Amino acid sequence: MTPEIRRVRDDELAAYVDALSTAFLERPDTVKVAEELRPIWDLERTWGAFDGGRICGSFRSWATELTVPGGARLPAAAVSAVTVRPTHRRRGILRRMVAAEHAAMRERDEAVALLYASEYPIYGRFGYGPGIRETAWVLDATSTSFLGEASGGIQLESPDEALRDELRAVVETWRLRVAGEIRRRDFRWDFDLGLRESAWDGRWKGFLAVHRGASGTLDGYVRYRATQKWEHGQPRGTLEIDDLYALNDDAHAALWRLLAETDWVATVKAERRSLSDRLPWLLTNARAARAEDVADGMWVRLFDVPRALEARGYEREGSLVLEVVDAEAPGGRARLRLDAGPNGTTCRPTDRSPDLTLDVAALGSAYLGGYPLRYAVFARGGADEHSEGALAVADALFRTLDEPICTTFF
Ligand SMILES: CC(C)(COP(=O)(O)OP(=O)(O)OC[C@H]1O[C@@H](n2cnc3c(N)ncnc32)[C@H](O)[C@@H]1OP(=O)(O)O)[C@@H](O)C(=O)NCCC(=O)NCCS
Repeated sequence: MTPEIRRVRDDELAAYVDALSTAFLERPDTVKVAEELRPIWDLERTWGAFDGGRICGSFRSWATELTVPGGARLPAAAVSAVTVRPTHRRRGILRRMVAAEHAAMRERDEAVALLYASEYPIYGRFGYGPGIRETAWVLDATSTSFLGEASGGIQLESPDEALRDELRAVVETWRLRVAGEIRRRDFRWDFDLGLRESAWDGRWKGFLAVHRGASGTLDGYVRYRATQKWEHGQPRGTLEIDDLYALNDDAHAALWRLLAETDWVATVKAERRSLSDRLPWLLTNARAARAEDVADGMWVRLFDVPRALEARGYEREGSLVLEVVDAEAPGGRARLRLDAGPNGTTCRPTDRSPDLTLDVAALGSAYLGGYPLRYAVFARGGADEHSEGALAVADALFRTLDEPICTTFF
């Protein structure tokens, strides 16, 4: 029998968690996790595949907001908990769940969907393209010192509710400034700061250092965990950064310096960071900071292409007619005239003949400025240039001086 795709009911949540944790090869206490998620998850966005009453697939999203180049924000759906049971894989169940929730996203007028791909080959076929390049910075703290004087202003703190609200304000200020960042969910804060135990992950037990500027306002913080290691009586410990936000260069330098200069520490590691992080430029020996595991971060799927293209900023002038191939669009494609530039942009449906035909997933890769469009098109079978040089014009148009980054994983 073909499994039924429908929204999950409240009393099915424990079975839902069992299905998705099985596909993720994890074994949490499913009843406790379901209790914890019940007030948090929006069941309108929570889809299951049901085979004779047994849940064999999961797919959900949550509402967020994406900051785009130039600082505008778009309503976005963040996709997670995507699984199909090992017994039911490769029968088109994921494809049917995608269809159901994508239709709901369009009805909710969400301009864009976002996700992190467990495996690279899964999502291109559904219109998603890797939209952000990220890296893990690994600092060999034993082979460098920092340029300049330590500026102070740092305290180690124990998280409490008042401090949580100050940290939240820092992240909120940051995410409005930086293309690729999304609005975080409020409920995460208590888990992330160890104020509340998570039924899935346990209680976060790490350290928190905050930076305050001359006025006393909190303008940066780092949340991190330590692993001790000793070799031949020598300290070789590692600090792993869970969050590092700094609203100015002083705070950024002071926070990295604190970690690198902590006794017993040989290595400091920070995942999900921008490749153009300023870290190497803080050091007397820039090679002590290595960008490891450069990889695709968040993926981007444009639904409302004209709205998305009109919302973002452009650093150069350019005009062209794009034909965007999208299996989910009426007729399988949309033709749009884009007149873009630093002083304003319009993007409207048109009947004019196209300059460039390309896949919506390639546009998702270039949208935030994370990847060159001229490379991204190859992942989706190439682009058709109907006017000479159209791909080069589009490629230059979508580039941004600042690299986008998303520091929130979901
Ligand atoms: C990834 C997963 C959800 C796919 O579910 P599924 O029901 O087997 O997928 P479908 O049968 O609907 O596949 C749709 C298409 O995607 C392809 N596909 C699915 N998963 C793929 C993978 N991991 N690698 C390559 N291609 C994949 C299928 O071959 C199929 O291609 P086709 O349209 O050309 O025939 C499932 O394998 C799973 O739960 N994996 C483990 C958990 C995981 O990685 N989840 C994703 C988290 S981001």
